Amino acid sequence: MSGPSLPVLAPIADGFDRRVTYLRVSLTDRCNYRCTYCMPEAGVDLVPRAEVLSIEELARVVGVLARAGVRRVRLTGGEPTVRHGLVDLVEKLAAIGLDDLAMTTNGHVLAELAAPLRRAGLSRLNVSIDTLDPVKFRQITRWGDLARVVAGVEAARAAGFRGTKINVVTLAGWNDDELPALARWAWERDAVPRFIEWMPMSGGAIFAPGTFFAAAEIRRRLADELGPLVPDEAGDLPGVGPARYHRLASDAAHRFGIISAVSEPFCDTCNRVRLSSTGQLHTCLARDEVIDLKAPLRAGLSDEELLDRVRAGVAAKVKSHDFSPTGCGGPRKHMVTIGG
Ligand code: 5AD
Ligand code: SF4
Repeated sequence: MSGPSLPVLAPIADGFDRRVTYLRVSLTDRCNYRCTYCMPEAGVDLVPRAEVLSIEELARVVGVLARAGVRRVRLTGGEPTVRHGLVDLVEKLAAIGLDDLAMTTNGHVLAELAAPLRRAGLSRLNVSIDTLDPVKFRQITRWGDLARVVAGVEAARAAGFRGTKINVVTLAGWNDDELPALARWAWERDAVPRFIEWMPMSGGAIFAPGTFFAAAEIRRRLADELGPLVPDEAGDLPGVGPARYHRLASDAAHRFGIISAVSEPFCDTCNRVRLSSTGQLHTCLARDEVIDLKAPLRAGLSDEELLDRVRAGVAAKVKSHDFSPTGCGGPRKHMVTIGG
């Protein structure tokens, strides 16, 4: 992406010499699906709309952080496509001149939105698909429609998106037998499958320990069916994200990523912070501590004052999370409110 060059302020770093170069922005805590691993069946307490940052406020925070070294931004939710003003926001963020502006979506309305988002300047997409069976898809998402999501992935390709990632949360006894088929399905569409270990959020309330399926088992399952694997760190820009990439030894084009926060943590290379839709900065996905940016934003603080707040919060960032495969160690917050 090209854009205006940014005046560079001192980088944002924590006490373990990790620099913040990546920002995830949750646009809403609402979602048109109800994935069982993401939120309780009854839903979560939704925040009043007045609490939610406006498109202008969101764009301002991203612009300020970009001046201090954030180069990559990902839009999340809830489900980011249910947020009014999404295309407008993408246009505003594209004008900042980031290296990468991506979005994670459930794909439900992507068939309609892919082309406008591409025109507005979105660089890349991640779409969540945990199963290729429409009945199971409906069970895991409670409200989802696989045919629409598949149409969304195809529309994204037609609109010019390349390297779309297909996010698969891996659940033992539920979709572990489908992992090779999901990988092939993604490869046939020039997409990159990414298998994600289930993380215990929501105070452990919706975590089923027997369902945890670890990275080593994911690799074994894929190798058993698809043949030997080799590490492929060129699979993504090195050092920018938590996914670790492998490919088939027989074919360099067939790559996949694994996000193994629980069994193989990657905290020592953490480069990110998360902004919630209500303007809380989360320095760690797995912790409940936040830095409030909404009150200072609305009190008219300057860019430098906002950055001072961010720097102070990030300086206090913990070294690592303590997620465990038994479901302990996670935060009370819900995944749906922060978007992964
Ligand atoms: N653990 C791991 N991944 C999760 N996601 C949602 N909830 C969880 C969880 N508890 C995934 C979604 C989506 C991404 C934003 O996070 O499937 O791909
Ligand atoms: Fe919605 Fe995504 Fe959570 Fe599913 S995983 S309920 S699509 S936010």
